[in-house]
Formats: sequence, structure tokens, C-alpha cells
Amino acid sequence: MKALVLSGGEGTRLRPFTYSMAKQLVPVANRPVLEHCLENLRNIGVEETGIVVGGHGAQVEAAIGDGARFGMRITYIRQEAPLGLAHCVSLASGFLGGDDFVMYLGDNVLADGIAEAAETFRRRRPDAQILVTKVADPRQYGVAEIGADDTVRALVEKPQEPRSDLAVIGVYFFTAAVHEAVRSIVPSARGELEITDALQHMIDHGRTVTAQVYGGYWKDTGRIDDLLECNRALLGRLGTDRPEDGTGGDVDADSVVEGRVVVEPGARVIRSRLTGPVVIGAGSVVRDSRVGPYVAVGRDCVLDTAGVEDSILLEGASITDVPDLHSCVIGRWARVRAQGESSHNRLIIGDHTQAEVLA
Ligand code: G1P
Repeated sequence: MKALVLSGGEGTRLRPFTYSMAKQLVPVANRPVLEHCLENLRNIGVEETGIVVGGHGAQVEAAIGDGARFGMRITYIRQEAPLGLAHCVSLASGFLGGDDFVMYLGDNVLADGIAEAAETFRRRRPDAQILVTKVADPRQYGVAEIGADDTVRALVEKPQEPRSDLAVIGVYFFTAAVHEAVRSIVPSARGELEITDALQHMIDHGRTVTAQVYGGYWKDTGRIDDLLECNRALLGRLGTDRPEDGTGGDVDADSVVEGRVVVEPGARVIRSRLTGPVVIGAGSVVRDSRVGPYVAVGRDCVLDTAGVEDSILLEGASITDVPDLHSCVIGRWARVRAQGESSHNRLIIGDHTQAEVLA
């Protein structure tokens, strides 16, 4: 089975980060979301993957490479404009040929893998198989109505009045029957070729589309709060899913480390308290600070006399003399510091940045 990974899109809900990076490269628990996806694909034996990329394509290619690291061959497929998930399937039709494939949205995290779903698809081999899960507010997802024998009766994209609470997860298994459906549909009201419409077309034309309820942890990391929640969930699994991790960095005798903490090689922790789960990225320096729980510090960051909880710091970020930061996402090489000599707050923040300061 081949894989088609979608790593384009504008990521408007993850601005300002997506001005300068692909949303699928934003790290959770210190790894780009896209790496979590490729690992799941490797674990079901995928050897050939096409990655559809958009505006930040060169960056995705630089970060992921030719696939050797994931035990697969990767082909990059360029999408000039975000015209929908089904449009990606049609762009990739040459790459996919007549093979079965799994389509995986590169911003979806399925922390418990997709082995069971792949096994069911291989065994039952319907024309298509989707994964669904119960959510509190289905209106922001594709929504599925399921009948007897796990057969999907209807699918609607982001309905105002959902007929079920089953959201469609961004991992779809297809036979080549999908190509005819993709060729037959027209763009939706938002101007995109929707994969839900292609699936509905298959159902309407007598194809078998089945659904499996995903029992593991799933998150679409399309928004900041979802990213932070996913970061907490994956950090919460530290030491179970990442047996290769250890404390490779340098923690001095004046520091206190409690809970599951990974200090990557080349990182230094000085006179600080780390309360796990926490990851400190390679080359970072943490001095006179309190970090955690639920903090992922990227590589080459500096925390000096800082206090941070439930946050993600991207590469090169620094925090100096700020004691109480919660639920933050701090971009690459961004600097946050207290300004002791003035009674004013000073903010130099870019487009679509959010800042919440104490009143
Ligand atoms: C897409 C799909 C939607 C699905 C969701 C899962 O939505 O269109 O059907 O439920 O992914 O993450 P998007 O996140 O692109 O708005």
C-alpha cells in the first residue's frame, strides 16, 4: 500500500507561525507533527509515500528529505493553490496509479498508530475506509452517519446541524475506485474539491465505504489550543513511546528534576527546577528557571530566570526574567523578557500575533 500525505494548505488558524513555516512542521513534544505521521506510516509497512506540498514545500523537503530516515521513498508533489483534499488525490493520480493507498492529513496526530485500521482495511477491503471518533463539537469536522456493518451512509463537511457526533479523522484508506469519484465532483461552496464529497459520491454510486472508530488519541493540530493539548498528551507519554530518550544533557547538582524529563544532548540545566513531563531541546540553556509541567523547549533556546508551564518554545526562542508564563507558543528566535527600568509594557509582535498581558 502507498501513502499520500497532505502537507500543503495555508494554515491560517495557526498564524503567525504559518507565515514562515508549514503547519505540519510545527513541533509537538519537540518533533514536527509530520514526523509523527511518517512514523505511523512506516509502522504499517508503507514503502512509498507521496507528500503534497504547497507554499512552504522547499522547507518540508529540507526537513523530511528523501524518506530514508523513515524507511521509505518519498516523492514530493506540488500543489499550486489549496484547492481541496480531493484535488490532492487528483494531482497525485500518476504517483498512485492503480494501487490501494492511505491518505493522511499531515496535521493530524494519531498517537496510538494506525496499525489496527490498516489491518481491517486489508482484511475487509472495502472501496474506502474512514476513521471516526466521537467529538463534543462536530461542526468543525467532516461528520459521518454510520449504518449497520460499519457502513457509512452519509458524510457532510462541517455541517451546521450535525446528524451524528462522529467526526472524520484525517486518515482515509482508498482503493483506486476513489479516482473516478474525484473526477466527478465539483468544488464546494468554499471553492474546494472536498474528500467528503468524493466519498459521498462513492456511496451514492454503490461503492462500499466503511468506518472504524479510532480508539486511540487523535488531534487535528490546526489551531493553537489543539496544538497545546496535543503537546500535553504526547509529553504525557514521555518515556513510554520514546524509549530512546534519556537525559543526555548536562544537569548541574543545584537543579531539581522531578517526573519524566528529557534533556537532550548538548542542553544545559543550571540551578533550575524541571517538573515533568518536560523536554529540553539540544543546545538549549536553562538557568535559574522553573520549567514544567507540560513544556517542550526546542533546540538552542535560552531560559534565564524564567517560569514556564504548559507551553511550546520553538527553536532559538528565549525568555529572560519573566516568571509566570502559561499556555504559550513562542516562535523561532522570538525573545520575551522583562523590562525592569520602565513601568511600560513594550511589545514588538508580528501580524496575527496574540499577546495577553496582566491587567
Ligand atoms: C479536514 C477534513 C475534515 C476532517 C478534518 C480532520 O478538515 O476536511 O473532514 O474532519 O480534516 O482533521 P480541515 O482540518 O482541513 O478543515
